[in-house]
Amino acid sequence: MTSPKTYHVKSFGCQMNVYDGDRMGELLSAEGMTAATDADSADVVVLNTCHIRERAVHRVYSEIGALRRDDGTRPMIAVAGCVAQAEGAEVAKRARDVDVVVGPQAYHRLPALLAEARARGKAQIDTDMPAESKFDALPTRGPGRPSAFLTVQEGCDKFCTYCVVPYTRGAEVSRGFEAVLDEARALVDGGAREITLLGQNVNAWDDAGRGLHDLIVALDKLPGLARIRYTTSHPNDMRQGLIDAHRDVEKLMPFLHLPVQSGSDRVLKAMNRSHDTASYLRLIERVREARPDIAISGDFIVGFPGETGAEFEETLNIVRAVNYAQAFSFAYSPRPGTPAATMDAQVPKAVMDERLQRLQALLNEQQYAFNTASVGRRTSVLIERKGKIAGQMLGKSPWLQSVHVVDPTLKIGDLVEVDLTHAGPNSLRGTAPMKLAA
Ligand code: 5AD
Ligand code: SF4
Repeated sequence: MTSPKTYHVKSFGCQMNVYDGDRMGELLSAEGMTAATDADSADVVVLNTCHIRERAVHRVYSEIGALRRDDGTRPMIAVAGCVAQAEGAEVAKRARDVDVVVGPQAYHRLPALLAEARARGKAQIDTDMPAESKFDALPTRGPGRPSAFLTVQEGCDKFCTYCVVPYTRGAEVSRGFEAVLDEARALVDGGAREITLLGQNVNAWDDAGRGLHDLIVALDKLPGLARIRYTTSHPNDMRQGLIDAHRDVEKLMPFLHLPVQSGSDRVLKAMNRSHDTASYLRLIERVREARPDIAISGDFIVGFPGETGAEFEETLNIVRAVNYAQAFSFAYSPRPGTPAATMDAQVPKAVMDERLQRLQALLNEQQYAFNTASVGRRTSVLIERKGKIAGQMLGKSPWLQSVHVVDPTLKIGDLVEVDLTHAGPNSLRGTAPMKLAA
């Protein structure tokens, strides 16, 4: 086989995977390869996988199968991400077409692993969690999207009983203050107007006593950067400094993703969440005092082992009490190796599905109401991509709502003032844009 010239990275799952996928692409570009338009035309395909729920794992194997081409050939295939970490050599055993299996902490070695696989004609597996930081081995960020992700923290020490993350991503590790600022500067130089700081527990970020709010205050001073976001936060790591930042830091967007998972204190305890519903609600109150218009988002799991009908009703109650601007909700999925997978009283699928539907109906109603309440506002929108209709552009409001604007003069990366005129369940429409100064 001649040396591969083009690559395609396909990321599944969370935003941290999107970030890792971008970085793997940059690594391959630094090797002289170029991005292919799709998997079909690429010499190397990286499947950057997610292990958080079961369906995601099945999907990986069907994706690998689908990479076989009509003429019987296939690209080189690397499986990266959390399925790679969790299943290791098993992936290459189950899917013979795989050339490289590389975990989330070892992907800086991707080019070397691909070369080794070609030289030896044998699958290479690297699921180490090396002491050296992969970040130091990655190329400097180049030109990119107006809204950029920046991973500042990885891993989790919380060990919620349903979750694989502590096993696939390892212990909580924060990147250094200066390294993060350097990457932020490079992103802004490359065209980013908005940076979303990422971490499994992003608000646990810490560098010698400096917390996430110190990082946000430093980023606020970065010329050219207009917006700062962060996700995902854990209720127990929500310090006063970060809450105050929502009042004091102009570039920090009024949006907080703060998963509660369940509205039942008994279930929260069984989940090992280390917060209860009362402390969560108090926290939301303090955040809203600091920033009254803040959009609250969350994650929910229905059908955790032993969840009764009455406990599920408590989840609906906390949703009513908080009033979410948007949220993600999932049917519980037993993950191998986690304590909850072997708990008694697993909830039947039909019951879970019915609960999920009711929860999602309520959350959708709240999201629609939140969007409707935004109509009539004039607000900033960061234009991120073209819409489906000619002249239509798509961007995000400060509250992370998608906004469609029809104006052929708009360009990707523009930050514009928009009058919000129509609300839908998942997006808004706006008009009369005026460009904002940088
Ligand atoms: N089953 C269902 N949902 C899960 N999540 C994490 N683990 C599981 C699981 N085993 C959800 C949680 C978490 C989000 C990223 O995924 O709600 O916050
Ligand atoms: Fe998983 Fe819980 Fe850690 Fe979130 S806090 S990553 S849900 S173990």
